[in-house]
Amino acid sequence: MNRLAGKSALITGAARGIGRGFAEAYLAEGASVAVADIDLDAARKTASELGGAAYAVHIDVTRQDSIDAAIAAVVAQTGKLDILINNAALFDAAETVDITRASYDRLYAVNVAGTLFTMQAAARQMIAQGHGGKIINMASQAGRRGESLVLVYCSTKAAVISMTQSAGLNLIKHGINVNAIAPGVVDGAHWDHVDAMFAKLEGKVPGQKKAEVAAGVPAGRFAVPADLAGMAIFLASPESDYILSQTYNVDGGQWMS
Ligand SMILES: NC(=O)c1ccc[n+]([C@@H]2O[C@H](COP(=O)([O-])OP(=O)(O)OC[C@H]3O[C@@H](n4cnc5c(N)ncnc54)[C@H](O)[C@@H]3O)[C@@H](O)[C@H]2O)c1
Repeated sequence: MNRLAGKSALITGAARGIGRGFAEAYLAEGASVAVADIDLDAARKTASELGGAAYAVHIDVTRQDSIDAAIAAVVAQTGKLDILINNAALFDAAETVDITRASYDRLYAVNVAGTLFTMQAAARQMIAQGHGGKIINMASQAGRRGESLVLVYCSTKAAVISMTQSAGLNLIKHGINVNAIAPGVVDGAHWDHVDAMFAKLEGKVPGQKKAEVAAGVPAGRFAVPADLAGMAIFLASPESDYILSQTYNVDGGQWMS
């Protein structure tokens, strides 16, 4: 299919995991995709494995100069920017009494400030082009409720949901749709890291937390990145032109349960 033919997309944190899955799906729909990541070697490897109109771009979403350079690199490569997926994020877990300022600062710098200022830079570029655009922020079911050991991460994802609401209302006058996706649990390196943290914090054996969580998902399993692709394509396509400020659960029923 060719639902994104001729579109130029930038996906942050796309060297692996969900972002890589989005890149693969967008390429299959005819878009060119900047595989943007703080780990440039991994981004290069991913872009060359994906092939076609994929290319690697360095971005550290905590640094304004790096965000601006990444947008400039996309424009230099394709002449424009039509779609941004704000996907890069960090996770941490701790007892409330053990949360450190360093962890708080790191997660807020990437998940909140990174999302905001990458969205802003993309919107400025899209406004200058004059043809609107699509911005998709990665939230999480964690942004919809507290979790005992996950205060900081949950609050950053609640902020992403809130920023999506405000930015969507503000940017639609430029024809820019801002929406978000809230996954439940998606298999990959991120969840291996989560499982290892919970093993320590809750005294579980490696893999135990993952198995317990999977058993509680109404769909009966963890997601794989491809499970999220349909929503990401829809939110980047003209079919979603009348939709803004929404956060869609793509979670196998986890939030509802
Ligand atoms: N995996 C899940 O179960 C799950 C569930 C809900 C939401 N999410 C969200 O989906 C998104 C992708 O998750 P994932 O599981 O693929 O994560 P991941 O950890 O596998 O990948 C994140 C990528 O972001 C990159 N990155 C980290 N810091 C960066 C920075 N400062 N600048 C640019 N890139 C940076 C990393 O190098 C990595 O390639 C995240 O926003 C995450 O919070 C994931």
